[in-house]
Amino acid sequence: MSIDPALVPKRKLFTGALMPAIGLGTFGSDHISPEIMAEAVHGAMEAGYRHFDCASVYGNEASIGPVLRGLPRQQLWITSKLWNDKHAEADVIPACRKSLADLRLDYLDMYLVHWPFPNFHPPGCDVTSRSPAARPYAHEQFMKTWRQMEKLVDLGLARHIGTSNMTIPKLELLLRDACIPPAVNEMELHPHFQQRELFDYVRGRGIEPIGYCPVGSPARPERDRTPDDTVDIEDPVLVEIARRHAVDPAVICVKWAVQRGQTPIPLSTSRGHYEANLEATVRDPLSEAEMRAIAGIDKNCRLIKGQVFLWKPDQSWEDLWDLDGAIKQ
Ligand SMILES: NC(=O)c1ccc[n+]([C@@H]2O[C@H](COP(=O)([O-])OP(=O)(O)OC[C@H]3O[C@@H](n4cnc5c(N)ncnc54)[C@H](OP(=O)(O)O)[C@@H]3O)[C@@H](O)[C@H]2O)c1
Repeated sequence: MSIDPALVPKRKLFTGALMPAIGLGTFGSDHISPEIMAEAVHGAMEAGYRHFDCASVYGNEASIGPVLRGLPRQQLWITSKLWNDKHAEADVIPACRKSLADLRLDYLDMYLVHWPFPNFHPPGCDVTSRSPAARPYAHEQFMKTWRQMEKLVDLGLARHIGTSNMTIPKLELLLRDACIPPAVNEMELHPHFQQRELFDYVRGRGIEPIGYCPVGSPARPERDRTPDDTVDIEDPVLVEIARRHAVDPAVICVKWAVQRGQTPIPLSTSRGHYEANLEATVRDPLSEAEMRAIAGIDKNCRLIKGQVFLWKPDQSWEDLWDLDGAIKQ
């Protein structure tokens, strides 16, 4: 099965560029090898995907790169991300060049600052792990990183730049000070975590929301689970809508995301699943009543809490997300 990429909905960015409204996630965590992920990217390209969400920290860009050569560059939308240990002014451009070399590309369609903190932790570490060098968000520091991101646009190495894991107070400062504003904000979005306020905020300012963990990341590692986490794909509302449409509840999460106006980036290495997710964007839309029903099952359940980026002992992960409207120090 393959879907004509021309039929897949697009998001128009402030530059006028059209970004496919679904991408394939490529974060295999510690259970998907770079080779398997690259094979999924290959299969997804055959299925009609044109948008791939990559990052240097996912450790598989060098395996994905050769696969991307399979299509003319202008047909693809490739995102990569600056990892937290490369925020220093001198590191940003070389880090982007390294991703470009690994991905075998001359330019990225989108380059994101992966997290607003330069706090480093080793991949795969336990949630209790804390870096002694970790510190709170420092806007002046972040702007130094952002100026280098802007240079990437000037150099033609990135067509757009954007943010990830930002909050409204941090975006307020960035929008005040940026010469080139973020074109997207990548953020956790799924039916049990709809982030209405931030979703409306970014859309209201011409920033497209990219939704990660769109089906509730059911295979995330044990270290990213807490006892209070809910499971989207077991939600009776989603299960019933899925039964009506004769698809997996995961597919309903993708349909809902695209119809709501975000760009989901579901990860899948199963051909049947990634094909179904792409098909979800072009066929059999949810009714208004179904969209309303899903809007009603938000549980404010953040799955990626970011504990490893905390900078003080005995801090709660909520401090990363500026819940009371002020940037936590
Ligand atoms: N910016 C950030 O900080 C950030 C953070 C987290 C994630 N991300 C990005 O977001 C992407 C997606 O997040 P995620 O991987 O955590 O979670 P996700 O996409 O919500 O969930 C992926 C899981 O769902 C399963 N799945 C997908 N489609 C399915 C279908 N149609 N039917 C049944 N099962 C299905 C996959 O299994 P199968 O492989 O068997 O299909 C996989 O185990 C990542 O890969 C990464 O690119 C970004």
